[in-house]
Amino acid sequence: MSELSDSATDEQIEAVRVRVLGRAGELTEIMRGMRNVPHEERPAMGQLVNQIKQQVETRIEQLKGALKQAELERSLAEQRIDVTLPGMSIRRGHIHPITQMLERMLDIFVSMGFEIEMTQDIEDDFHNFQALNFPPDHPAREMQDTFTVDDGSMLLRSHTSNGQIRVMEKRKPPLAVVCPGRCFRRDEVSVRSLPMFTQIEGFMVDEAGKVTLAHLKGVLSNFVRALFGADVAVRFRSSYFPFTEPSVEVDMSCVLCKGAGCRVCKHTGWTEILGAGMIHPNVLRAVKLDPEAYQGFAFGFGVERPALLKLAVNDMRLFVENDVRFLNQFPALSGGAQ
Ligand code: PHE
Repeated sequence: MSELSDSATDEQIEAVRVRVLGRAGELTEIMRGMRNVPHEERPAMGQLVNQIKQQVETRIEQLKGALKQAELERSLAEQRIDVTLPGMSIRRGHIHPITQMLERMLDIFVSMGFEIEMTQDIEDDFHNFQALNFPPDHPAREMQDTFTVDDGSMLLRSHTSNGQIRVMEKRKPPLAVVCPGRCFRRDEVSVRSLPMFTQIEGFMVDEAGKVTLAHLKGVLSNFVRALFGADVAVRFRSSYFPFTEPSVEVDMSCVLCKGAGCRVCKHTGWTEILGAGMIHPNVLRAVKLDPEAYQGFAFGFGVERPALLKLAVNDMRLFVENDVRFLNQFPALSGGAQ
């Protein structure tokens, strides 16, 4: 029994079990030798052997139980979780700088009373061109080299001006709406252009005489100054778009050189940021509005170019390359309109 001490290992216990209780074990041998024991001594002898057997078995069970318990305690101690240790922090993402810019711009228009309406990216020729007064072979279509989809019956919108048509088809004036969205043109991927970009279209239509070019100038000057600061100069130049008459282009004084002239503004002191004008009578006719009874203005502009100026980024490609080292520099622009 001395081998079955409290510190006996699993192997030692097993060795004793085999040696004493096993098929060729010592006790088994004694039992077998029982027939040589005189008859009258057999009961006492058998009792003794059984007693020893039981003692050994009990002791073995006890030791094995203790070993199991010790093993359990050891593994519990090893696997203990220290809940006071600092956890692994999960890095939080943030909104893409272009989306942040877009939201900020939309906030400014909403503050002026415009509603936001989303319209579709995949468009038909009618809503992207014809209803906007581009006849089928009009050379102005070349201003916008367009991607077609499938068999050519649909296209990826080349501007958000389809928003004017989509909204005016289903809603009647008075309307003051901005339509943000993605646009597509077969342009180079370059420092200053991308084949996929973001625009905001805006328009305001009401009964004839109520919405004039003066309102257009007011809304756009206000927008540019809310975005870039009150000291920015805004100018309107006459221009051409098939869907506006008269048409204007809006420039603002270069935010980098403050109008003095630099590489970014090509030494003119100005940056062009918006196209606009009074909605052409043919556009109103296309959405079944009488141009004698209604009039309005429309404007449209890309988000990426002003974003370059606002965020002091010098390459438009950075916005789409998804390099987190770049994106992490714009955790969050300070909230909406200032
Ligand atoms: N759709 C024009 C463009 O993409 C912008 C524009 C919109 C001009 C509305 C005038 C009126 O360049």
